[in-house]
Amino acid sequence: MPRSTIHSCSECGLQSAQWHGQCPGCGAWNTLVAQARPPARTEGRSAGARGRGARPRLSSRPLREVGAAPVRRLSTQIGELDRVLGGGLVPGSLVLLGGSPGIGKSTLTNMALGNLHAAGVRTLYVSGEESAEQVRLRAERLGPDASALEVPVLAETDLDAILQTIEAEAPEVCVVDSVQTLNAAECSGAPGSVGQVREVAAQIMALAKARGVAVILVGHVTKDGALAGPRVLEHLVDCVLQFEGERERPYRELRVSKNRFGSTNEAGLFEMRQGGLVEVLDASARFVAEATRSPGSVVLATMEGSRPLLVEVQALVAPSELEQPRRVVSGLDRNRLALVLAILHRHAGVGTGGADVFVNVVGGVRVDEPGCDLAVALAVAGAIRGVPTISPAGGADGAPRACFGELGLTGELRWVGHPERRLAEAAKHGLGAVIAPPGSGGQACEARTLREALSAALPGGQRRPARAAA
Ligand code: TYD
Ligand code: MG
Repeated sequence: MPRSTIHSCSECGLQSAQWHGQCPGCGAWNTLVAQARPPARTEGRSAGARGRGARPRLSSRPLREVGAAPVRRLSTQIGELDRVLGGGLVPGSLVLLGGSPGIGKSTLTNMALGNLHAAGVRTLYVSGEESAEQVRLRAERLGPDASALEVPVLAETDLDAILQTIEAEAPEVCVVDSVQTLNAAECSGAPGSVGQVREVAAQIMALAKARGVAVILVGHVTKDGALAGPRVLEHLVDCVLQFEGERERPYRELRVSKNRFGSTNEAGLFEMRQGGLVEVLDASARFVAEATRSPGSVVLATMEGSRPLLVEVQALVAPSELEQPRRVVSGLDRNRLALVLAILHRHAGVGTGGADVFVNVVGGVRVDEPGCDLAVALAVAGAIRGVPTISPAGGADGAPRACFGELGLTGELRWVGHPERRLAEAAKHGLGAVIAPPGSGGQACEARTLREALSAALPGGQRRPARAAA
């Protein structure tokens, strides 16, 4: 095999000098494609490999003596986006923004560039996906005076042309929408293939770092939520953001899974409206106001990163006609539901054996933390018994109106992070006592086990036989 060829897997990106029918990396068949080996770099790192003696002697130094200028930030003036980024865009950084088609990636980046432009920052919007006219039509939807209409746009897919434009126009912030549509001439694969995406990102990154351009690479995700093809990109970039939500619902969540310049704990909430994306700052108030008093509805005091949020968890338990009853979740992990149902059965005598169970976090929000277990358990138990459990409207004075806590396999209620913030959020929205694990402090109505929590939430006299489970 000529030394100038390398084989690269189109599924996982593995590179191998030899061709294999089955990829040694991911096990996929017939995915290795021959590519030209990139020319070895003659300066810098590879030069040292040729002759150790030729490499100049370097010396290390204590970290304290390493000069580190404070990180400068460019504000997009979209509070939720800035917060998720760790305080704004860092010049020279590379941000990957993933999300399924139609979720609002182009809208969000258009709006951010518009604001930056209005603040005097040089911007460039590279659209490989849509024509300049289509980009304009979107910007028009943001309003006749939208600053997004002033942003310079380049509709192009050829990487060399794009790099030349970036060099010539020297933007401070550049959006590439999307990385999967660009084409690097020196790469054989089709746009969007692993080799192409990697090459495109690497070349853009080299230029961005050299010129101090902050670049937002937009990327599509596959059905199961992974950034299509290029997991490789996640290692390359400084920050990985995901824009999530359901297209049919207005709420959109911006999450961060990697951030070299900030926390990965943050999440931002938006709503897609007629005039673009609007930040949702009073999410708790909305969810509490919309929450019902019906059996099966429970308010959960959850954490969205470092922010407390009150959400409504709803459950429906109905007799099933299927041999294997349905377990359907939305906004939660399916395995967590299975676990909670098993704990309910084993440690609180609440069985759902032959019934279909549906659990939904209202509003299309995703709850991704163990503190949701108790809310799921109480919602399911309330749905089975047909009585309102804890609810925002509440019953008697001092009756619990919200909850949080993780369930252990032995039926105990376990401490979860930031109890004080959760309690404060509930109090702020007028939800008195909150059922919480031991050690939560404050005005929590503490319960040590699921059984104790159930009797606090479902006062004994109101119990009815479990019809659905019977
Ligand atoms: P878009 O940003 O194009 O999504 P993506 O780039 O992630 O594929 O926007 C998607 C949807 O948002 C589209 O169906 C239209 C809708 N939308 C609004 O509802 N209001 C608006 O002001 C804009 C600009 C878009
Ligand atoms: Mg788009």
